[in-house]
Amino acid sequence: MKKLLICLFALLLVSTGVVFAGSKSVQKSHINFAKKNILIAYYSLSGNTKYVAEHLQAQIGGDIFEITTKNKYPTEQRLLKEVTKYQNENDIFPEINNTVDVSKYDIIFVGTPVWYSTMAMPVKTFLSVNNFKGKTIIPFITHGGGGWGDIDIDMDDLSNGRVVQNVFAVQGKGTANLDNDLKKWIKSLRK
Ligand SMILES: Cc1cc2nc3c(=O)[nH]c(=O)nc-3n(C[C@H](O)[C@H](O)[C@H](O)COP(=O)(O)O)c2cc1C
Repeated sequence: MKKLLICLFALLLVSTGVVFAGSKSVQKSHINFAKKNILIAYYSLSGNTKYVAEHLQAQIGGDIFEITTKNKYPTEQRLLKEVTKYQNENDIFPEINNTVDVSKYDIIFVGTPVWYSTMAMPVKTFLSVNNFKGKTIIPFITHGGGGWGDIDIDMDDLSNGRVVQNVFAVQGKGTANLDNDLKKWIKSLRK
């Protein structure tokens, strides 16, 4: 009965029609940010990725967009874990409020917390329901101390954009040096 409830909860958050693209290798960056339209899109359940996204925007500018789900995840930790794990294991993509027009942008930073060594499910939805052809996608990640697996490759598999390989990853909200770390990372993206 409990399993059935978790399954129903997970499916309640779902959208359909997801296609996995073939695997490609991620790209070196060499990004010229001048005169480019920049979007910072992120998902954040408990505020860490939001915090990093806002600090990133303070440095690079551009527009910011918070990916939100149509239905909220449970707040109770054990249920949250069961629902998200079920979605993750079964490739169930939660429906999102997809209210941003990505066609207006050249460079899209995509921020995600690590969920089960990959990106959070709402970010998978965001990548799969939008068309990123001709766009540069730059991942940034917050995690809880475990690895972040191959999120850049996973993003590449799900989108039809050009995902760059120098990913920014911090634990939680990062250190007191977050702004400096972001600065160094942005510099490395230009190379
Ligand atoms: C459902 C779930 C799964 C998680 N899985 C991992 C994981 O596999 N590895 C890890 O290091 N942290 C994991 N975490 C911790 C988050 O990645 C980390 O706390 C992150 O900074 C949260 O970002 P947010 O505050 O923007 O939601 C997980 C958290 C949740 C809620």
